[in-house]
Amino acid sequence: MDMPEFAKIKTWPTCELNCAVFVWFHCDDIDPSWSIPEQEEIQSGEWVYRGRTEHFVNCHIQEIPENAADIAHLSHLHAPSMLSGSDLRSTRASHWGFAQHDWKVEWNTESEPNKHCSRMLVNHAFYIFGRRFPLLDVHVVCRQFERDVMIWNNKKYISKPLLVKEDSAIARHRRWYTQFYSQNSPRFTAQLDSLDW
Ligand SMILES: [Fe+2]
Repeated sequence: MDMPEFAKIKTWPTCELNCAVFVWFHCDDIDPSWSIPEQEEIQSGEWVYRGRTEHFVNCHIQEIPENAADIAHLSHLHAPSMLSGSDLRSTRASHWGFAQHDWKVEWNTESEPNKHCSRMLVNHAFYIFGRRFPLLDVHVVCRQFERDVMIWNNKKYISKPLLVKEDSAIARHRRWYTQFYSQNSPRFTAQLDSLDW
């Protein structure tokens, strides 16, 4: 059947995996060139849905994944106790000093066929008066994430930042992330004037 042009709608390649629906977008209309690997822990039921948190974030799209490679920010932003909240103007107040988070993080890329994937390994411990409380380990995620949101909403993306030796993972992340751009990718400056993303 001939379909009139005005009745046609755009379709998008999609896939349903890991209990989520993924939509492929490519600025050159190219079909998917890689697929998302199954997450074993989700398939086996080891990781289950526990709820969600929703935020409006006004930043460059690269900032959020790059956070995983920014190892140095953890001891500054995420070390103060979750009890001190997510407003960064007060999280480092001295009366919260009795409780601290300790983070050990590694960020690495994966190889073919999953070179579009990277992995952040997090080891976290929560200390009160210097003593570790393992049962509290799982309750910190949501509030700690809100601290990142406050940074992202006030952060300026710089394409060639000044990096020191401790920021080597950020440099690796920047090189790895170039695979997600093509020559026609919308530029950040264009997005500042438009909501068309
Ligand atoms: Fe963070």
